[in-house]
Amino acid sequence: MAKGMVAMNEWIEKSKTYLWLPFTQMKDYEQHPLVIESGEGIFLTDVNGKTYYDGYSSLWLNVHGHRKKEIDDAIRTQLERIAHSTLLGAANVPAIALAEKLIEWTPNHLTRVFYSDSGAEAVEIALKIAFQYWRNIGKDKKQKFVTLTNGYHGDTVGAISVGAIDIFHTVYEPLMFTSYKAPFPLVYRHPSNDPNIVRDEALEALQKIFAEHHEEIAAMIVEGMIQGAGGMHVMPTGYLKGVEQLCRKYNILLIVDEVATGFGRTGKRFAIEHEDVKPDIMTVAKGITGGYLPIAATLTTETIYEAFYGDYTEFKTFFHGHSYTGNQLGCAAALANIEIFERERLIEQVEKKAAFVAEQLASFTELEHVGDVRQLGLMCGIELVRDRQTHEPYPWAERMGYKTTLTMREKGMLTRPLGDVIVFMPPLASTFEQLEVMITIMRDAIIETTEKRG
Ligand SMILES: Cc1ncc(COP(=O)(O)O)c(C=O)c1O
Repeated sequence: MAKGMVAMNEWIEKSKTYLWLPFTQMKDYEQHPLVIESGEGIFLTDVNGKTYYDGYSSLWLNVHGHRKKEIDDAIRTQLERIAHSTLLGAANVPAIALAEKLIEWTPNHLTRVFYSDSGAEAVEIALKIAFQYWRNIGKDKKQKFVTLTNGYHGDTVGAISVGAIDIFHTVYEPLMFTSYKAPFPLVYRHPSNDPNIVRDEALEALQKIFAEHHEEIAAMIVEGMIQGAGGMHVMPTGYLKGVEQLCRKYNILLIVDEVATGFGRTGKRFAIEHEDVKPDIMTVAKGITGGYLPIAATLTTETIYEAFYGDYTEFKTFFHGHSYTGNQLGCAAALANIEIFERERLIEQVEKKAAFVAEQLASFTELEHVGDVRQLGLMCGIELVRDRQTHEPYPWAERMGYKTTLTMREKGMLTRPLGDVIVFMPPLASTFEQLEVMITIMRDAIIETTEKRG
């Protein structure tokens, strides 16, 4: 016991001494350190031996749980052959097999796969491809991007240039290229609270931007059906389809960012299936390896691919690629992940689990400080507000979302809030029983933090 305690404290102290954690104020971390030592199924265990539900799928990644035997085995088997060789000018077997599978999994018109290592990089690639596509076909003026207010596409400089979350992005503004920002159809804070009115207004505003500037717009980038990091806001029915139609009308490429929504998260393989939308470019990451290894991909149509094809001297080559692009271990994990999806018919189960979660979350709207409950598939956000009637938010500095997730941690469940929106994104493999326990923990933590401690 004493020995174990010493070891635990050592890791915690060393984490404070040596690490600089992503998207983390280290002063907060010092007060509430957490060092994970292992995981099993949908549970994570820290160095102190305390076990938690992985209520955010380790940042929206995990699908079948931790230490899923088939994925572990696939990685081990691949290790017997090779861990990595470069994809620059040379293919590898798992990368080819995965590309074939991704093409089979996505709508027919997407025919090419360009790999990368993170969602943000998949987005960078999408932007660079869209930009260069127009140059390659002689339409040099089309250089600008359109994005949505509150959109999030990753944290690299290109990705934040098409992002619009003030708290993350304002400080870097001088570094960013400018994009047109169209209003996201945000129902919760709209005076009408009518999704159809909100949708039509947002599409009208987008049409105005397109009508005025289409000759200089290369592409529009949008998340698939639900804005994730922007606060878990679901698009009103018909909005994404409307965006697609406007892109076609004004000859603007449509990039759908499925980094968060892909691989079953919203109850379909990809969120575009909800409205039969056909993007020119689609980005995927996160769930692609079941939450195991950093693989991402940007998929394009053959028309786009062909615009880059030609003699080297024509200067059409896509100049992008990283050291670990198309890593064999990651691709092998992704293939095993997708096989489990198919064998276990997981997407159908997600639909049922999502319906169960919706039932369970319905009563949250009766809580004194829950303003809104939003959900698409197993992607849920619970917005805490000071005043439920007026939708008045808590003062930003009060950090009610953060405090609530710390209470959840005490009660044995991990997640990260988005401001005052509590994120609930359990691994897709969570059982009905496990979902129920997690929802109870969330409910108790919300009541305890907002009504008793708050
Ligand atoms: C829609 C979307 N795009 C891109 C990203 C960035 O992905 P990554 O963190 O893998 O760079 C995220 C991350 O949350 C996301 O939600």
